[in-house]
Amino acid sequence: CGIVAYVGQQEALPIIIKGLKRLEYRGYDSAGVALIDQKGLSIYKKKGKVSELENHLAENGILNSKIGIGHTRWATHGEPNDVNAHPHYSSSERFAMIHNGIIENYEVLKKDLLQKGYKFQSETDTEVFVKFIEDIFTNSNCTLEEALRLALQKVVGAYAIVLINLEEPDTLIAARKGSPLVIGVGEDEYFLASDATPIIEYTNKVIYLDDYEIAVIREGKLQVKTIENIETSPYINQLELELEAIEKGGYEHFMLKEIFEQPKSIADCLRGRLDPKTGRLVLGGLRDYMNKFQNAERIIITACGTSWHAGLVAEYLFEEFARVPVEVEYASEFRYRNPVISDKDFIIAISQSGETADTLAAIELAKSKGATIFGVCNVVGSSIPRTTHAGCYTHAGPEIGVASTKAFTAQISVLTMMALKLGYQRGTLPESKYILMLHELADIPAKVEKALQTNEAIKKIAEQYKDARNMLYLGRGYNFPVALEGALKLKEISYIHAEGYPAAEMKHGPIALIDEEMPVIFIATLDSSYEKVVSNIQEVKARKGKVIAVVTEGDKQVKALADHVIEIPPTNEAFTPLLSVIPLQLLSYHIAVMRGCNVDQPRNLAKSVTVE
Ligand code: G6P
Repeated sequence: CGIVAYVGQQEALPIIIKGLKRLEYRGYDSAGVALIDQKGLSIYKKKGKVSELENHLAENGILNSKIGIGHTRWATHGEPNDVNAHPHYSSSERFAMIHNGIIENYEVLKKDLLQKGYKFQSETDTEVFVKFIEDIFTNSNCTLEEALRLALQKVVGAYAIVLINLEEPDTLIAARKGSPLVIGVGEDEYFLASDATPIIEYTNKVIYLDDYEIAVIREGKLQVKTIENIETSPYINQLELELEAIEKGGYEHFMLKEIFEQPKSIADCLRGRLDPKTGRLVLGGLRDYMNKFQNAERIIITACGTSWHAGLVAEYLFEEFARVPVEVEYASEFRYRNPVISDKDFIIAISQSGETADTLAAIELAKSKGATIFGVCNVVGSSIPRTTHAGCYTHAGPEIGVASTKAFTAQISVLTMMALKLGYQRGTLPESKYILMLHELADIPAKVEKALQTNEAIKKIAEQYKDARNMLYLGRGYNFPVALEGALKLKEISYIHAEGYPAAEMKHGPIALIDEEMPVIFIATLDSSYEKVVSNIQEVKARKGKVIAVVTEGDKQVKALADHVIEIPPTNEAFTPLLSVIPLQLLSYHIAVMRGCNVDQPRNLAKSVTVE
């Protein structure tokens, strides 16, 4: 979900609506605002996109208010509809709240409140939360801020919340635990948001609220306290984000923009870190932890979704170059499995958003067992980089499209640098090869540029396969995770069922699905498993499957067999994923557009999953 709030001298509503649109990638099944105007405290909310809310607001005439809160939702409790949308009123309708996260003990609290006579309109945990605060407020004869503080000591779960109160029309009260909240500090005005994107056009001064902190903005002044009521002095960060980075810049969709940004985003990621001429490879974040990294007995990589796929690529990289055992774990499984972890383990947590709840929990668990935790994240100042011992930002720039593209290749770029560095330090990667690899890596952005030139050809292939009901993605070695990622991209945005498999595993199941209706995407680049993949292609052709193959420029053997080939430049086998994933991103993009799907905001998904 996304949160935006404003208090200051400007009209709050346009700022909030614009902010909600910027945050819409976090959830978009309903949206709402609460404002204090001449009529009192009013809530407007609507199922669907922020634009639906805008239409609804337009019907209500101009709303003048210098204070307000807004929310765009990704449903957890209760279906997406007008009633379950946020904000939620207290029973008295004197105050209202927006909430991102999940209150786990809401049923117990609700039962108690029902007994006390409270009525509930929605099915949300948030309405329970706000009425729980109200109950304390009415019975303890304290301030709303104090009531919130007491309530927070009883609620279990994750939250970022903002409260607005009719009695105090110049005050916003916010709190966080486990869900992000950023405060923008302007001239006589404050902004609150789930991330910095709604804020940057007004100010580059931000404060990241910490877990168990409460922020009170009253009469133009900000005060931050812990839930134990101890005042803290928040650190003001200077944001370096440019506004154009979060706009579409002439592209039809953010996803297409982000796919085409990859030569730049990979170059940005390598910049200042890699210098093949001098053999220099510096990862600032590793400096203090190089010893731990070098002497680790095992590397455990934990992540979710696309980031997990980047982790799988890294498994091949670390094992090949540094000869260290690697395990790649879904954070959601790892955290509940009572895994064996020791202080000799080096944990790498990968996350674009830096906010994924399961990944955060996996980090906490590994930390409690004494392991060293290293973050590979894209969003600067997000929760994961703030809880890990050390880390490296991917510097891909804001990724707005829900389906991850440029963040994936930037993650792989960082992990590749880490693997090369580790191999070199451990002596498992000889200097001459190391230097060659650095040169090759530095050439990757230009090769990605070339891989993007397949766009028009891919559009034609997409036209032919857009009505497929299933697709199979096959690859081996470094390209096996790419097959998984290709299938995930297609599922996410086109709603076509797709599966990724190691090509050789095909004969243990998926081969039964193959007939003339079944498009099979092979990643068949010229590498150590090429011949084997060619045999797998023959097995598919023998069963009349349609083959679309991603091959290395100049390939002849696969060209003779496949129905379509897409050529990418040659590179070292270990770096192939950075190129071979590009045509797969484009293929899913074009198919989704041709099927009329909303590629940037696919149904049911959210970009930042701050609930488990
Ligand atoms: C969501 C997004 C995916 C992303 C995954 C992990 O499911 O839709 O694109 O890969 O979360 O997110 P993270 O921010 O941790 O990389």
